[in-house]
Amino acid sequence: MLILGIETSCDETAAAVVEAGAGGAMPWRMLSSVVASQVEIHREWGGVVPELASRQHVRDICGVVERALGEANVGWPAVDAVAVTQGPGLIGSLLVGVSFAKSAAWAAGKPLVAVNHLAGHIESLWLQNGDLPTPAVVLVVSGGHTSLYLVEPPGTYRLIGRTRDDAAGEAYDKVAKLLGLGYPGGPIIDRLAASGNKAAVSLPGTRLTHPDRNAPAREYRFDFSFSGLKTAVLRHVRARQKMLGTDRLPEGEVRDLAASFQATVVETLVERTFAAAKWFDARAVGIAGGVSANSSLRERARARGDRAGLPVYLPSTHLSTDNAAMIAAAGLRRIAAGDLAPADLNAQATLPL
Ligand code: KG4
Ligand code: ZN
Repeated sequence: MLILGIETSCDETAAAVVEAGAGGAMPWRMLSSVVASQVEIHREWGGVVPELASRQHVRDICGVVERALGEANVGWPAVDAVAVTQGPGLIGSLLVGVSFAKSAAWAAGKPLVAVNHLAGHIESLWLQNGDLPTPAVVLVVSGGHTSLYLVEPPGTYRLIGRTRDDAAGEAYDKVAKLLGLGYPGGPIIDRLAASGNKAAVSLPGTRLTHPDRNAPAREYRFDFSFSGLKTAVLRHVRARQKMLGTDRLPEGEVRDLAASFQATVVETLVERTFAAAKWFDARAVGIAGGVSANSSLRERARARGDRAGLPVYLPSTHLSTDNAAMIAAAGLRRIAAGDLAPADLNAQATLPL
């Protein structure tokens, strides 16, 4: 069984072909995965400009899908289903993928499957590693989300914690912008932090002491919060700029600040994820999404897993940031559940998972 995945939720136009056994059975094999990144376009503006993003998706989508089919060495007749990201994401961007997928599926006479982008990030772990032991606690940590899910059985996702304000990737991007480091901030801070002193700047941890009064009836025991940390970095930078009489902090100071910020973020993510794993008696821990590419997060999570006797699963760098192979994989789960999308499927910017 061959499934074509399409992803256009943010600033990457992506298409991929994934092969599975009958009905979507594992193991899954990635035959191709093409990602056209718009980073160069948005860098100039210091972040994603939604209107520019949707226009670029329109330009790129046909070529990206053709290349994904070409690299997998298959034509439309061999494709068994089309999976597309329905949300969450930028509405204009999502609409390009959803409209393309609907038209292509209808024209080729193939079933259409709607995928939640976050489920895609979770399934990147199953695509990469084969079957994970369950129950598994999976942290999805990206530019737009920082959420913890309990996966049991595979293909089901129970939300057990999420950020109350900024996503971790968003905090990375904002701190990088503040330091004049460019976009996207995650990889840049990651690189600088490697040669900085993480004990140089004392930043507040992100421990939560009060329950979230705004939370719906359910209790979020394993929530995150990053806006206080971001504000602390802002205050520190402003004070140093004032003291030195310049906007440009010395390079060594920037490295130290990057290292201190990263250590705080990573510590919070790892601590809370493993606390949840313990609480739910998980047999595995997974980390997915753009920030899972972070070198320190990978290292610390693995070390913590070794100590706790829990296997830690991470996607490859290609599968950690936005791609369509993970969308195809999540689509296979939907097919296995008999969950096909109607012809009037619409994109949904705030689609929950
Ligand atoms: O999953 P993703 O590609 O897009 C969203 O769904 O948001 O994640 C992008 C985010 C950005 O905020 C970027 O700064 C962050 O992932 N990121 C990183 C690293 N690589 C990407 N953050 C920290 N360290 C990295 N190495
Ligand atoms: Zn993503």
